[in-house]
Amino acid sequence: MALFGKNKKDNAAGAALAEEIVLPKHVGIIMDGNGRWAKNRGLPRKAGHREGAQVFRTITRYASEVGIRYLTVYAFSTENWKRPEDEVGALMGLFKSYLKEALEDFKDDDIVVRFIGEKSGFSPELQKLMTENEESSAYRDGMVLNIAMNYGSRDEIVRAVKSICADVKSGRIGESDISEQLFSDYLYTAGQPDPDLIIRPSGEYRISNFMLWQSAYTEFVIMNKLWPDFTKADFDEALRLYAQRNRRYGGV
Ligand code: IPE
Ligand code: IPE
Ligand code: MG
Repeated sequence: MALFGKNKKDNAAGAALAEEIVLPKHVGIIMDGNGRWAKNRGLPRKAGHREGAQVFRTITRYASEVGIRYLTVYAFSTENWKRPEDEVGALMGLFKSYLKEALEDFKDDDIVVRFIGEKSGFSPELQKLMTENEESSAYRDGMVLNIAMNYGSRDEIVRAVKSICADVKSGRIGESDISEQLFSDYLYTAGQPDPDLIIRPSGEYRISNFMLWQSAYTEFVIMNKLWPDFTKADFDEALRLYAQRNRRYGGV
């Protein structure tokens, strides 16, 4: 059963925005600031992650209603394993419950769920849930949601290089076939357009190992809100800021 119904009002608002401005096709979000949000309230960091997970749910459905075609959310980096054991444990628990129930919600919006990052880093139970979510949503034709979990862009690039080397060695491809396009096709995001816009809440001016190759010409919007405070109106604001940018790709 869906945990909450489709909001007709949001749909109307989203559609109106899409008529007014040029929308990015692919949006990335670095969901940052959960820990500080909790600290500001004298709560344990895991309370911030719980709140952040709710916002993830709201903003994902809203992005789909607005008409975004691809949304990539950064949920857990290859570097986040070095956090204290209880924080990592709380995050794994949240992932488990989300993969079990909240992702069910995305059915209503026809959202295709994909994971980018190294699945083998997770428990067999989580890996199974991830695969089930991918398989059960693959046939849908709505927005593609990439959830970056155990994702690090340097790791992604190194893996791509290794796969290319193996394929050259086996004769599957020739060295002269290696191009920017071919390289892109060895990344987790193969076949998807590069992100047009990356939003980072929490006011940090850094990329933290997110989509390094794919963001060569991405527009960045840094917002001073912490992720658990992020609203649909903030998402709209980021889209409006994006629409005002003049993308030149090195041209004039
Ligand atoms: C983002 O919030 C969530 C993860 C990285 C898993 P943080 O936990 O990084 O929150 P801050 O940046 O410490 O406030
Ligand atoms: C980036 O946030 C990773 C995620 C949001 C999942 P971090 O909190 O890990 O990044 P740094 O440490 O501030 O660079
Ligand atoms: Mg952080």
